Amino acid sequence: MSSNERRVTVSLAERSYDIVIRAGLLREVGRRLQDCGLVGKVAVVTNPVVAKLYGPTVLRSLKAAGYRARTIVVPEGERAKSLRWVSAILDELVRERFERGSIIVALGGGVVGDLAGFAASVFLRGIPFVQVPTTVVSQVDSSVGGKTGVNHPLGKNLIGAFHQPRLVLIDPDTLGTLPARERVAGLAEVIKYGMIEDERFFAYLEQHMAGLLKMDPEAVAHAITRSCEIKAAVVSEDERESDRRRVLNYGHTVGHALESLGRYRTLIHGEAVAIGMVQEAALAGQLGLCSPGVVARQRALVCQAGLPDRLPPVRFAELWSAMQHDKKVAQGRLYCVLPERVGRVTIAPLERAVVKQWFDRHARQGRGKGRRTGGAAFRQRH
Ligand SMILES: NC(=O)c1ccc[n+]([C@@H]2O[C@H](COP(=O)([O-])OP(=O)(O)OC[C@H]3O[C@@H](n4cnc5c(N)ncnc54)[C@H](O)[C@@H]3O)[C@@H](O)[C@H]2O)c1
Ligand SMILES: [Zn+2]
Repeated sequence: MSSNERRVTVSLAERSYDIVIRAGLLREVGRRLQDCGLVGKVAVVTNPVVAKLYGPTVLRSLKAAGYRARTIVVPEGERAKSLRWVSAILDELVRERFERGSIIVALGGGVVGDLAGFAASVFLRGIPFVQVPTTVVSQVDSSVGGKTGVNHPLGKNLIGAFHQPRLVLIDPDTLGTLPARERVAGLAEVIKYGMIEDERFFAYLEQHMAGLLKMDPEAVAHAITRSCEIKAAVVSEDERESDRRRVLNYGHTVGHALESLGRYRTLIHGEAVAIGMVQEAALAGQLGLCSPGVVARQRALVCQAGLPDRLPPVRFAELWSAMQHDKKVAQGRLYCVLPERVGRVTIAPLERAVVKQWFDRHARQGRGKGRRTGGAAFRQRH
């Protein structure tokens, strides 16, 4: 193991696997698969953008290690996460006589990972798959935890399966080609890990945000590693999402609601989560669950990352109703992950009246000063 290699183990008994983080790892995909004991034909599922940038490196490395490898290219963007494209991948696997031991490598962002992972989970009732994530979101979030799936025309992620990868190979160098907006949005999930589990990490982000934004290799590698460690720990305790795993939804009750109100076009996911974290922290402050200092630190770090923090111009009734559609509604009550202090959250029920009070205060702020920031951005991208 080279000195600058970092490794995180996701402990799930016989389904345990390693996440390896190292610059230049893309050139070693073949050897790493071998080390993991994987033998068989390989299908690299990717999209046209990533195929062009990184496909040849990965294929070369697989072939050098003696693998028979081919690529399956799916369209770019969320529309590839459909049963139609699962079916197209399966057609290809059948045509190429893929077997039980054959391997699917997901090379790309969360879309490719979720889609390829789901295809791997259903083909022959499950074949091995390896995640090679190339976006911030996929490196710190979606490639870890085994949730795979596709969208239904009536809703996101409605069709899916738990299928853990055998290995996750993270090459932070791939982030160099990612559009800045995507890169920054992914930092919202990184900030989330600090707030839910680790004050020291949150403080590290406060001190190193400038370095992260400039893609300082040490800061980037540390941020990815610590994020993976936190997600791995939470997932290890709760593979199938009962209570423990819900803390990962911090910022997502308001975030998902804003995303759905913008019909997935105005704010990208991480931006919506950034606003969600700031606003949920404000809600926690109003409920007396955390001090004003916690709310201020949450807002400041989001702003330091260049992420939006204010509510876009939405109506309360719409927002409240969109928040109900979130998965955390139980027995008619809306549950939300709220910070108690930096590094610790709780899950608390929310009454409509309290949320209305918070909204009246914060939506006004958003409309006032927010014209040049969150609010304006929301409208422009409409
Ligand atoms: N399974 C999970 O636990 C989980 C968790 C979070 C998100 N998700 C899912 O992940 C998806 C979002 O993932 P995402 O944010 O990675 O989006 P994405 O996969 O759509 O990638 C974003 C864009 O970046 C491009 N891209 C990818 N890597 C690149 C690179 N290195 N250089 C240049 N361009 C590159 C892609 O072509 C795409 O246009 C959503 O579908 C979401 O539901 C799943
Ligand atoms: Zn998220």
